[in-house]
Amino acid sequence: MMFHSLCTLLAVKSSAFPAVELATKSSLKLSLPAGQKFDLDPFWLRERCLSPAYVDVNTKQPLWMPHEMPKDIFFQNASIIGGDTLQVGFTDGHTSHFDLEHLSKELTDFRHTVIQPAAYARPEPILWSEGNATEAGQ
Ligand SMILES: *[C@@H]1O[C@H](CO)[C@@H](O)[C@H](O)[C@H]1NC(C)=O
Ligand SMILES: *[C@@H]1O[C@H](CO)[C@@H](O)[C@H](O)[C@H]1NC(C)=O
Repeated sequence: MMFHSLCTLLAVKSSAFPAVELATKSSLKLSLPAGQKFDLDPFWLRERCLSPAYVDVNTKQPLWMPHEMPKDIFFQNASIIGGDTLQVGFTDGHTSHFDLEHLSKELTDFRHTVIQPAAYARPEPILWSEGNATEAGQ
């Protein structure tokens, strides 16, 4: 009876808040309110960092190739901020923030990748014609 009550309590608690736990320096355990649990890898997460140091702020295009990332990236620490953001500190000193809703969509359905979001600010197209080359004196 008491065991049952404790299980109910834990189930309610885990369904109310997202939680993150550093299992090892290369494994982050993420539990989401809907009950899903994920084991995240430092390279996988770092590749999804959308900070201005890693992507073009307007297009979200990566500024670095994956092979240019430091080879020895590990997790330093991690926490959930405001119930909707995963903050991850890496051993090279960089801190990334991930929107938990976007992250969970990608974790459950590859089409929702955050690396190339469906909606982003695109520069206006610049029209080109034969006359442009002549004007440039070519
Ligand atoms: C990691 O730990 C440092 C020092 O305690 C703290 O300032 C920082 O906010 C932590 N980062 C995360 C992602 O929890
Ligand atoms: C090419 O010429 C058109 C017409 O003059 C102009 O509207 C457009 O801005 C030019 N494009 C570039 C890239 O200069």
